Amino acid sequence: MTQSLADMRRDYTRDGLAEEQAPAEPFALFEQWFAEAVKTEQAPVEANAMTLATVDAEGRPHCRVLLLKGLDARGFTFFTNYQSAKGQQLLANPFAAMTFFWPALERQVRIEGRVEKVTAKESDDYYQVRPLGSRLGAWASPQSQVIADRQALQDLLEATRARFADSQPECPEHWGGYRLLPERLEFWQGRASRLHDRLNYRLIAGIWQRERLAP
Ligand SMILES: Cc1cc2nc3c(=O)[nH]c(=O)nc-3n(C[C@H](O)[C@H](O)[C@H](O)COP(=O)(O)O)c2cc1C
Repeated sequence: MTQSLADMRRDYTRDGLAEEQAPAEPFALFEQWFAEAVKTEQAPVEANAMTLATVDAEGRPHCRVLLLKGLDARGFTFFTNYQSAKGQQLLANPFAAMTFFWPALERQVRIEGRVEKVTAKESDDYYQVRPLGSRLGAWASPQSQVIADRQALQDLLEATRARFADSQPECPEHWGGYRLLPERLEFWQGRASRLHDRLNYRLIAGIWQRERLAP
């Protein structure tokens, strides 16, 4: 097993990332790469999957996969349960990092910054366009808490269904969006012989500075 892992090696030759292709500010480049990922990755729906890292009150890191659900000039939005483990961690430490990996394109984007809750209206607007099952699930699942077994979850869902039998579920207060306001974005393009391209954008006094990092 260890030997076969050591032998797993792939050379990256698909593309490059030169300074001339990289705009002065990073959002346009992210949007371009994202559109290409949606077109190219095997399951387009997963192009918006990213790993979100948070740090708890004891300084220990935790990461998990989430779906990016919004992007604008302010930042990168995802939705979750505010009482979940990640919600507790963001309460203790509002800084987070997200990583996108688009293997077909041999690309990675790393984003770091402060996280804030979106407005209740933004959460509600997104909640209302979700399928009914997801809307009920947001009420039914005490995300990150220990539950007895699968049946316990089923029971919670049935109780939620009964509760909203005659009405549409509204967005729960414990569920909603967070927006990561980026201070750093790094675009990584795999290159031959591990001499990859890394363009790093840092927000300094409100202005994006771009630099190249060694691979
Ligand atoms: C592809 C994929 C997409 C996911 N999308 C979300 C999401 O958008 N929001 C969410 O709360 N959890 C999502 N999850 C589940 C999270 O990875 C995680 O299990 C959950 O948020 C609880 O994390 P926590 O206990 O660290 O708070 C997704 C998992 C996968 C594998």
